[in-house]
Amino acid sequence: MSHSRKLLQGHVVADVIFNEIKVELQRMHFPRSPCVAFLRIGNDGASVSYVAQKEKMARTIGIKSILKVFDPAQITEDQLMEEIKNLNLDTSVDGILVQAPLPKSIDFVNVCNAIAPNKDVDGFGAENLGRLLQEKSGFIPCTPAGIVELLKFYNISPAGKHVVIVNRSLIVGKPLAALLTQHSPWGNATVTLCHSHSENLSQLTRQADILVLACGKPGYFDSNFVKPATILIDVGITRVADSSPRGYSLQGDANFEAVSPIVQAIAPVPGGVGPLTVALLMRNTLKAFKLQNNFAT
Ligand code: GUN
Repeated sequence: MSHSRKLLQGHVVADVIFNEIKVELQRMHFPRSPCVAFLRIGNDGASVSYVAQKEKMARTIGIKSILKVFDPAQITEDQLMEEIKNLNLDTSVDGILVQAPLPKSIDFVNVCNAIAPNKDVDGFGAENLGRLLQEKSGFIPCTPAGIVELLKFYNISPAGKHVVIVNRSLIVGKPLAALLTQHSPWGNATVTLCHSHSENLSQLTRQADILVLACGKPGYFDSNFVKPATILIDVGITRVADSSPRGYSLQGDANFEAVSPIVQAIAPVPGGVGPLTVALLMRNTLKAFKLQNNFAT
């Protein structure tokens, strides 16, 4: 990649956010630390790794975490709901996160809706998603909020721009579309939301001033999908088997070699948005802690 092209490095932005949280926690002088509960069902490699990253970062900045792991062959939706109800009532727990994906027998949306809205640090419950659409304060899902922080840090305004998002999930696409169309300096974008039924995908993605990819097709998006000088945010993370000691490498949806000569800037995989998801989760946990303990938020 030539020097005129920019790498959007999420870890740099994440470090700034982690430091802000650390400083704020040190100033608070509260008898206990914020506490977030992670619920993981099964041992899917990516989920184990994501939750471990979240636990490690929490520890590093002074946030307590609890990990509960359930056997997917044993746990029912009702039992998981019961666990969540107990955590909702537990005054020593500020935030609750159920790592996706869940086994097919458990409905992720039902589970998200069972989390108390003021502990819903993922922001996937109906109340927080509704508040996001209403442009009222609440918990904003971490990956979309992280993408906006990345744009802010690099002073890339989405206002008036055409943002094309290839993902319609509750985790990325839908909340990101809501955020970027808000009446705010870091919103005001024109958004096209694409998904597996979108026809002529490359025609749509080629219109993007800012292109967000999150469809889990490693290396699929080459120069045919990208117009010159676009800002490309790659959020697709797939483990692709290779002969390295750990047995895989992480690959984004973009074919990095093919698109990097064309784009204006790119948030790559790895090293782009990933660390920001963790940073925004920590910020949401701090916010939940303040809500629970009547600090001004
Ligand atoms: N799986 C992939 N990303 C996320 C996320 O941000 N939150 C949860 N709960 N699960 C995920």
